[in-house]
Amino acid sequence: MKRMLALLTALTLACALTACGGTGAQSDPDQSQTQQEGTSSAGEASSPEQSTPSASSTQEAGESDEETPEGGVLVAYFSATGNTEGIAQHLQSILDADLYEIVPEVPYTDEDLNYSNDNCRANQEQNDPAARPSITGTLENPEDYDVVFLGYPIWWGQAPKVIYTFLESCDFGDATIVPFCTSGSSSIGSSADGLQELTANAQWLDGQRFSSGASQDEVTQWVDSLGLDL
Ligand SMILES: Cc1cc2nc3c(=O)[nH]c(=O)nc-3n(C[C@H](O)[C@H](O)[C@H](O)COP(=O)(O)O)c2cc1C
Repeated sequence: MKRMLALLTALTLACALTACGGTGAQSDPDQSQTQQEGTSSAGEASSPEQSTPSASSTQEAGESDEETPEGGVLVAYFSATGNTEGIAQHLQSILDADLYEIVPEVPYTDEDLNYSNDNCRANQEQNDPAARPSITGTLENPEDYDVVFLGYPIWWGQAPKVIYTFLESCDFGDATIVPFCTSGSSSIGSSADGLQELTANAQWLDGQRFSSGASQDEVTQWVDSLGLDL
């Protein structure tokens, strides 16, 4: 009888130990999956080479790799000489947003941008209300974005005409659009007025002008001041 009892006790102990070990090894499968996805999300979002011509996709935990998360934030920009691109990249990293470069089909040469020549390409386009320079590629699923930061250089007080081409090529529905720009010295002024007419239902916020070397802190302060739920 004593031997039987000892055997039973040993068996009970062995069962209990096996059960404990099993629980530890399989702990929190959801959590470990979320951590892995979170890590890849951060890597993808900061990858600058994914910026053109389609938006680099920022993945949320639980989203499939192919999908843009609903309620996403997009930073779309055109930059002829790199200044606006720098601000767009700050925004992307602050917001963990998708980044989309608006690329003209025919790139602007230095001569095209020589605004002291009345006949340079940029001046001709800005003087022609009907000018719509072709752009490469198409933004996929614009309706997935709730907030769109739209960046451009100031050209004669206005947005370059490629921005008009871009807005006419996609429908952002009732998204909130936030313009930003770089310039030599001009403010953003009325540069977004003509753009607003191209988006029937979007809500436009006041925009912001940055100097070419604006720091990430400066851009962060502006983003915080918008009071958006991002
Ligand atoms: C055709 C043209 C017109 C411009 N007009 C203005 C202007 O009206 N006011 C201003 O402050 N800067 C003006 N600039 C300077 C650009 O706005 C400035 O260099 C900007 O940061 C360039 O941005 P990007 O490098 O992203 O192209 C003009 C530049 C060009 C090429």
